Amino acid sequence: MLEQLLAGLEPSERAAIDDEELQILKDVEAEMPVFAAERSQLLPILQHIQGRHGYLPKLALQMVADYLGVTIGKVYGIATFYNQFKFNPPGRNPIKVCLGTACHVKGGEIILENFERRLEITEGQTSPDREYSLERVACIGCCALAPAVVVGDKVEAYVTPSKVEGIITEIEVRKAMAAREQERNEAANG
Ligand code: FES
Repeated sequence: MLEQLLAGLEPSERAAIDDEELQILKDVEAEMPVFAAERSQLLPILQHIQGRHGYLPKLALQMVADYLGVTIGKVYGIATFYNQFKFNPPGRNPIKVCLGTACHVKGGEIILENFERRLEITEGQTSPDREYSLERVACIGCCALAPAVVVGDKVEAYVTPSKVEGIITEIEVRKAMAAREQERNEAANG
């Protein structure tokens, strides 16, 4: 199924699929037969792919459509109806900006705009290097800390535009240190 789909792609579309995505597609192909090939399994299959891989690659949606014998439009219709589904891979540093009422009132939109400008992506997107993904979320349950943002697993409180800069700088510094550490280890090993 996957081979056929890949063979039918334009060269530029094929080239846009990186190793990570290809592996996900292979996994999806291997895992799908666990589910019965019935329309009632559409939602469970999408939930499985989302849960296991963090998003629904475009070709995976086509594979699901082929497997269940439904149109791609039907699959998209379901996938876009539920906001639990994402269509871009999560970044290594997922950033979730709370836009619940308390955070909205305290300037959550401005914080979101600051992240968008700084990362050069818009809400719902992942940076091309997959380092960052950005999304808006509803109340995360810490309204007293508004405006709040979740970076990875950590809640950042009372976020201001300058704190946005600080958050990104901290991630970049951590990344640079990890890269240096790896270089040192590689040099030490040989
Ligand atoms: S509204 Fe943002 S934490 Fe509740």
